[in-house]
Amino acid sequence: MIKMLLDVKNLSIYYYTLAGTVKAVENVSFAIGKREWVSFVGESGSGKSTVAYAILNLVPSPGQIINGKIIFEDKNILELTNEELREIRGKEISMIFQDPMTSLDPLRKIGDQIAEVMIEHGIEKEEAYEKAKELLKKVNLPEDRISYYPHQLSGGQRQRVAIAIAMAFNPKLLIADEPTTALDVIVQDAIMDLIGTLKDEGTSIFFVTHDISLAAERSDKIAVMYAGKLVEFGRVEQILENPLHPYTQSLLASVPDLWSEKEIKAIPGYPPDLRNPPSGCRFHPRCPIFKEKPALKGICDVTEPKAIEIEKEHFVACHLHR
Ligand SMILES: Nc1ncnc2c1ncn2[C@@H]1O[C@H](COP(=O)(O)OP(=O)(O)OP(=O)(O)O)[C@@H](O)[C@H]1O
Ligand SMILES: [Mg+2]
Repeated sequence: MIKMLLDVKNLSIYYYTLAGTVKAVENVSFAIGKREWVSFVGESGSGKSTVAYAILNLVPSPGQIINGKIIFEDKNILELTNEELREIRGKEISMIFQDPMTSLDPLRKIGDQIAEVMIEHGIEKEEAYEKAKELLKKVNLPEDRISYYPHQLSGGQRQRVAIAIAMAFNPKLLIADEPTTALDVIVQDAIMDLIGTLKDEGTSIFFVTHDISLAAERSDKIAVMYAGKLVEFGRVEQILENPLHPYTQSLLASVPDLWSEKEIKAIPGYPPDLRNPPSGCRFHPRCPIFKEKPALKGICDVTEPKAIEIEKEHFVACHLHR
């Protein structure tokens, strides 16, 4: 068995709201190897961000991790003290977000914010500022930006700063939650290149996007989430050439293709209310195959499908594949 960098087992996360318990993530298991880029895709509300936050034990209230293990190297993240977690955050595991303004302080200069992460982890002040300049260069920003405030930069430049901070320690894992969604395609491409550079230097990538075609460009593996469940997981080529779950097939059919006359098919219906998710397979009310085949009645709508490995490294949770 190859040792994985991150091994998530049976992760379940609920949000306890006044309006009811939202079963946001249920029994999700996956692993990320060293230097592997794994992209999580799925419609809005499928639980991608919730899983991303859980990896650093940062699920926001009223969310609670109710079950599971998150093994990073040899440690279960969920059993670490706050002190131990602080050691890991920003150093071994870094995180970037859709809106870099959420992680940057609007009142402090860029240079101070980059240096701060290093100083927090024990690097001398002078060295930290030197390194901050190098990091800015690395993300293709001029050195003098060190004395700028976040509002003096464009959205793409701010995201570069966030990546510079994330790069400060050559983290083992980068968690990127829709880091390019707010950017135009050219800037998006440049940011994807930077994340690729990090990977080339040995970092594993946990990437969240709702855009499966963006995921397909750079990832090694794709994880498909639907309504809090991981429904399919595999190598990019397996997912693209041999998608097994009807939801993955629907997602792929909904991608516009400039070069073909292919008909774009939106997925009919809406994701379910996770306070009261459908019985059996959560996708069954929208599943085109369930609708077509009466023989599936009493199976898909009753029993939860378990994830099984269909071919090497290709997992699916669907009653059509047993
Ligand atoms: N703070 C919260 N309180 C209550 N429910 C929440 C909270 N945050 C998320 N949820 C619910 O948990 C589920 C998963 O949300 P999550 O943000 O993880 O989805 P996502 O896949 O990242 O979606 P998006 O693509 O829109 O970012 C959703 O049903 C959402 O409504
Ligand atoms: Mg999200």
